[in-house]
Amino acid sequence: MIKQAIIPLAGLGTRMLPLTSVMPKELMPINGKPNLEYILDECIDAGVKEFIFIISQKKLSIKKYFFNDNFYRKILKKKKDKRVLKEYKKIKKYQKMIKFVYQNEPKGTGDAVLKCKKFIKSKYFLMLLPDDLIIRNNCSKEMIQLHKKTNGSIIATKRVEKKTVSRWGILSIKNKKKKYFQIKDVVEKPSIKKAPSNFAIIGRYILPTKIFTEIKKLKPGQGGEIHITDAIRSLIKKENKFYGNIFTGKYLDCGTLSGYINSGIQIFKGK
Ligand code: G1P
Repeated sequence: MIKQAIIPLAGLGTRMLPLTSVMPKELMPINGKPNLEYILDECIDAGVKEFIFIISQKKLSIKKYFFNDNFYRKILKKKKDKRVLKEYKKIKKYQKMIKFVYQNEPKGTGDAVLKCKKFIKSKYFLMLLPDDLIIRNNCSKEMIQLHKKTNGSIIATKRVEKKTVSRWGILSIKNKKKKYFQIKDVVEKPSIKKAPSNFAIIGRYILPTKIFTEIKKLKPGQGGEIHITDAIRSLIKKENKFYGNIFTGKYLDCGTLSGYINSGIQIFKGK
């Protein structure tokens, strides 16, 4: 069973400056609710019981958001405001499920995942990139179902426009079925010429604990970072089974300012 989810939150958010100079992008509200809470709610609905947040000293406000008990208690002591009480209860629910690890240098997703090694209890765990929201259908739930069916590792994927392939990790396909396929290979941010398909990795992964050993062996890749994509590639080369889950929900890119604004509009409309 997949009960733990890792969420890398140590990124600097440069694509969202100047807002991110004072506020983590993951706390920026989308239709009245922080981006990160959408991710947490998706996971909880899919049966996740524990979150490991990878933050940095620069992003301690994420910790404060979930562990600000004194602040709430003081307000509630003065007046039992129903709305505040409801919000506090919600925060307490999340709080019980969250652990923190630190990545103080932005060395990439692979490095972030490796920092969680000591906390992972089962053979597989979920990893979600909070820039990527998927609404309407629970992508994590779909992936857990596909994991149960295949006994393999799973990556969320969707077709993207060919001209944008260099922005994503791109999958090479084997045995395509209607809603999923086996992954033959994966390449991080290829040129249009080198892209093996236009199926892009979207930020949801079910990974095996074996991945930690592969990450340790990696040298910095694309952009000087340790990429989870490269560790996945090594595992595929060693005959580990990875499947692309062509998810049915709607993808919203929250990692850029225009994407962030659009996400708010889409979620508002979808209500
Ligand atoms: C990361 C991954 C990439 C993936 C993308 C999805 O890239 O490295 O493989 O396609 O997330 O959003 P980043 O957005 O950090 O550049």
